[in-house]
Amino acid sequence: MSGFPVVRPRRLRRTPALRRLVADVALSPSDLVLPLFVKEGIDAPYPIGSMPGVVQHTRDSLRKAAHEAADAGVGGLILFGIPAEKDARGSGADDPEGIVQLALGDLVADGIADQAVLMTDLCLDEYTDHGHCGLLTAAGEVDNDATLDRYAAIAVAQAQAGSSVVAPSGMMDGQVAAIRGALDGAGYPDLPVLAYAVKYASAFYGPFREAAECAPQFGDRSAYQQDPARRVDEALHEVALDLAEGADAVMVKPALPYLDVLAAVRAAVEVPVFAYQVSGEYAMVEAAAAQGWIDRDRVIAETLTSVKRAGADGILTYWATEMALRLR
Ligand code: PBG
Repeated sequence: MSGFPVVRPRRLRRTPALRRLVADVALSPSDLVLPLFVKEGIDAPYPIGSMPGVVQHTRDSLRKAAHEAADAGVGGLILFGIPAEKDARGSGADDPEGIVQLALGDLVADGIADQAVLMTDLCLDEYTDHGHCGLLTAAGEVDNDATLDRYAAIAVAQAQAGSSVVAPSGMMDGQVAAIRGALDGAGYPDLPVLAYAVKYASAFYGPFREAAECAPQFGDRSAYQQDPARRVDEALHEVALDLAEGADAVMVKPALPYLDVLAAVRAAVEVPVFAYQVSGEYAMVEAAAAQGWIDRDRVIAETLTSVKRAGADGILTYWATEMALRLR
């Protein structure tokens, strides 16, 4: 042993009490937002094969799941609707009798909105027969500007049904301005817009497309969602545009493969930043855990802690209820 002192970072890690004292990141139930799927015309919850533990809900089972989440203390819920009939313009999305509007009405009537924020995903892909997030031109491309009118109508329908936050996820340019304008014009100037500002064309959405029955019938979403190979600057540009258009909060999606982007967005803006831990992130952990290859509970906590450490103020995660219960 030489006589000189050694700097030992390990000294502060030796006991649980020391680690707790110096910990920086603590998840809280209110950070978590639970995505929920509700399907029109089914009479029992339908399990999603690629997302063990996640189901397409009936209106009734949705109420139960929403109460469980709210009682566990989650910060919010976000609803996705799957209509019985799909068509080219996604008519179910803004129908006052559409599944999300009816399901929202149930949850509002149950008083859930007083416990947790009731958000609605605002997009067309769950409602279109072609599975794309917007209307198509004759040539089969997504028609950005025609789609904006549809998003405006959906925003108003969701507002009228009682949504507390609308979250546009379709990556059309100008969507936040169109939605903000429509909400203001319809008497909802105080309804916040959480913009999916940064959304990559990601293979991690695979299981979601089973859950929401929205796999594109041709092509993919690379012409409107972001290219993973672009630098972070493009993400910051998307965020700046959405804020200029009136977004109240922004989202980065997916989460774990894009923590660099999340950290850069967090550093660049003053508004709350959300991250979406998407279906593929969930499925990978569940699949490996089912094989006994990883410690499921520790991996879940580690992923969520890392997303928060990178800068997320809120995290959309299919484990929201479970994690909220664990944190209490
Ligand atoms: C689009 C939307 C998608 C997801 C959320 N909103 C799918 C897509 O863009 O293809 C994916 C969420 C997930 O994978 O968990 N409405």
